[in-house]
Amino acid sequence: MKKIFLNQLKNIKKDSLRCKKNLLKNNLFKNNNSFYIETDYIFFDFSRNIIDLKTLNNLSSLAEILEVKNNFKNICSGNITNKSENKKTLHTAMRGTLFNLDKAIKDEVIDYKKNLREISDNIRSGKHKSFNGKKFTDVVSIGIGGSHFGTKMVFEALNEYRVNKINLHFISNLDATEANEVLSNLNKDTTLFVIVSKSFKTSETLENAKLAKNWLKKQGNRKNVMKNFIAVTHNFEEAIKFGVDERLIIDVWDSVGGRYSLWTGVSIGLIISIGFKNFSKFLDGAALGDKHFYSKKYSKNIPVIMALLSFYYSRFFGSQSHLILPYDYSLRLIVDHVQQVEMESNGKSLDINGKKFSNISGNIVWGSNGIVLQHSIFQLLHQGNIFIPSDFIISKNVSSRKKDNHHKVFSNFLAHIETLNKGFSKKEADDLYEKKYSKKGLDKELVVKNLTLAGNRPANAFLLKDISPETLGMLLSFYEHKTYVLGLLSDVNSFDQWGVEIGKIMAKDIYKDIKSSKDNKNGSVLLKKYLSKKF
Ligand code: F6P
Repeated sequence: MKKIFLNQLKNIKKDSLRCKKNLLKNNLFKNNNSFYIETDYIFFDFSRNIIDLKTLNNLSSLAEILEVKNNFKNICSGNITNKSENKKTLHTAMRGTLFNLDKAIKDEVIDYKKNLREISDNIRSGKHKSFNGKKFTDVVSIGIGGSHFGTKMVFEALNEYRVNKINLHFISNLDATEANEVLSNLNKDTTLFVIVSKSFKTSETLENAKLAKNWLKKQGNRKNVMKNFIAVTHNFEEAIKFGVDERLIIDVWDSVGGRYSLWTGVSIGLIISIGFKNFSKFLDGAALGDKHFYSKKYSKNIPVIMALLSFYYSRFFGSQSHLILPYDYSLRLIVDHVQQVEMESNGKSLDINGKKFSNISGNIVWGSNGIVLQHSIFQLLHQGNIFIPSDFIISKNVSSRKKDNHHKVFSNFLAHIETLNKGFSKKEADDLYEKKYSKKGLDKELVVKNLTLAGNRPANAFLLKDISPETLGMLLSFYEHKTYVLGLLSDVNSFDQWGVEIGKIMAKDIYKDIKSSKDNKNGSVLLKKYLSKKF
């Protein structure tokens, strides 16, 4: 298999050389249906890439050789696929994407969801009350990384789907400035805290949980404050030690990795806010994304194409990053979530068997709201000498209230992907100069040169039907699957994250040194300076 894969890579390398050469003749622009894929919720236009039909076919056969769909079915089957941690990878279970599983797991999913519904309904209805018998008005979700980004992102995106008056807040940072800011506006009598930590060992989260407990306890005689806590964790023992009532602990299955856990009780704050019905629609959208992934042929498969293009650019065009540009304001946090999904999953230099490799397996994922970035980083995007493939994302249907405004947003979206792709010729630059700058006394040659854009900078376009739970579920599942396929292409385990452990251990040791005012073991100059009374 390895040999066929490597041979196919050679063909793709040739494709890349041909495509680069043809770019100069500008004959890659295509209006061919092969470069568009439509689903119920997402229209994916990948026509602005440096590929032709032959490249597309050759790239697709890489997925064929790797048996992407069979491998995916295997991870959804309850087999041990996260080898280094000896774990199953069942993050798709909550959305009903399960293959060959025994009834017990299916029943577990049903019970799990029932529990989520019950807990969230009880809080919303006021059945579960604050320690002083009051109805909750605010929920604070405390967590970090995968126990934070996804749920916060979806919460911000589904602003219009909030079904009750309970406000949701987030605390993630160890710097207590954030917690103090959030708490300063809240009422101790009516605030519920959700401690989200799969391990219940993450120091940032535990510090914030302690801070919240102390904050609640501060006034008067407050013995029962633990009524104002829910925990979402796999470590029941530690959560109970912290004082959380066992009945108010929601499990995070060991088989669901943190960055893949937003489909579970990790999102309980979100569920309280948008209601279980809307959350179910979110899961349904993701299930449709899964179905698309495991059933569509590779050349018509959105996440597979996303991954193949990304792989193609890092192998043959030297790209190191992937830029994500959501144009809808409400989608702005998607970058934080996808950044963790992709970089924590694939940022590796060891293959699945522990063998070192030197190719790039995980992209730097970056970006932010497109409209805002147009006025900061787009100069480099259009004219810099760095090769940056991108995803432009925008919705189609918005409320009538925002319609005209959205037409303007869409115009910007399209203007930039077209310009990135087609560039701006010398002739166009000449005409523009005459029209706009000729009377300004500038050096014509210099200005025309500067106005000319080479184009051929790859950009995928995602036109979302709307920003609904279903669409969002599908989109986020596509990014998960893209990451998975990229992992297969580089032969890495996309479900472990050993590289983050050492820093955590070191930080604890350094903190001990600081507390005892000792020099640290390796004699860091920086720590000396930090502890010095003179600076
Ligand atoms: O340090 C990285 C990490 O383990 C992520 O994988 C995870 O999402 C995050 O920390 C939070 O972990 P936990 O949910 O156990 O607090």
